[in-house]
Amino acid sequence: MNIAIMASGGDCSGMNPATKRFVEYAIEKNINPYFIYDGLEGLIDANFKKASYLDVSGIIYRGGTILRSSRSKRFFEKKYRQKAYENLKKHNIQTVVVLGGDGSFRAFEVLSEEFGINFIGIPSTIDNDIYGTDYCLGVDTALNVIRSAIDDIRDTAMSFKRAFVIETMGRECGYLALISAITSGAEMCLIPEAPYDLDSLKRKFLKSKRKYFLAIVAEGLKISKDIKRWFENEIGIESRLTILGHIQRGGNPTVFDRRVAFEFVTYAIDLILDDKKNQVVVFKDSKVKSLDSKKVTSNRYRLDQHLLNIAQELMH
Ligand code: F6P
Repeated sequence: MNIAIMASGGDCSGMNPATKRFVEYAIEKNINPYFIYDGLEGLIDANFKKASYLDVSGIIYRGGTILRSSRSKRFFEKKYRQKAYENLKKHNIQTVVVLGGDGSFRAFEVLSEEFGINFIGIPSTIDNDIYGTDYCLGVDTALNVIRSAIDDIRDTAMSFKRAFVIETMGRECGYLALISAITSGAEMCLIPEAPYDLDSLKRKFLKSKRKYFLAIVAEGLKISKDIKRWFENEIGIESRLTILGHIQRGGNPTVFDRRVAFEFVTYAIDLILDDKKNQVVVFKDSKVKSLDSKKVTSNRYRLDQHLLNIAQELMH
């Protein structure tokens, strides 16, 4: 049997450990592992390679993905999907393991409907915004990168008695911002999923004897610059904005991400051996399981209400 692995959409730490496990466990199970380089673009352009142990030696500690990734516009056109299918057929690949987000899983659902290609999705995105899983590969590394950055920024915030607004990634999802705020001792956290009250925060901040402030703002709100100005105009404290940007996507994968990569990929290959079709591997209630891809892609991820409740004071 021939199977392939590819990354699609935003990269994240943990993709390389996942790729290593893919090759090694496939060979262990007498399956031929293939790489598809450059995401959906490489699928269209036949950028394939039969993988061996040598390809994955020494990659476990590296961020990013040796598979490289892309966001493909061409894939939306049927003629390019036809090419993608023909490339898979030529290599006799029946199943693709997809490291990506729900947009990538949707792309493969189309390929499955049109050409019968099977896929197993591995939730891989720092945004942690995929329905049905409590955890996506790469999130722990991103959180640790953010923690380290906030710890460093706090040094200057304290030395200069400043407010720092720190913008985290995550698209429409405030998970990174919320967990980072809770674990970094921030005074304020604003995310798309929860209402906030600047007047009440202002009253609290003016009453407090705080000499500096750390405010974590999720990029999805698009208000980071306004909040910086709010600190200057309403609280009367010098302030700076730090947009963390793509450092959150990179870095040496944490132990947790290496472990999740190992468990997700092992589960994915076992699903293939059990002849399961179009599944997404998930981590739910501390267990690795799988869900039908359609269930994952047709529902919206929601932040844990308990987390939102306990962080209320950072928003009001
Ligand atoms: O989905 C991952 C992510 O890093 C988001 O958090 C962010 O909004 C987006 O990708 C950035 O995309 P790009 O790398 O294309 O600028």
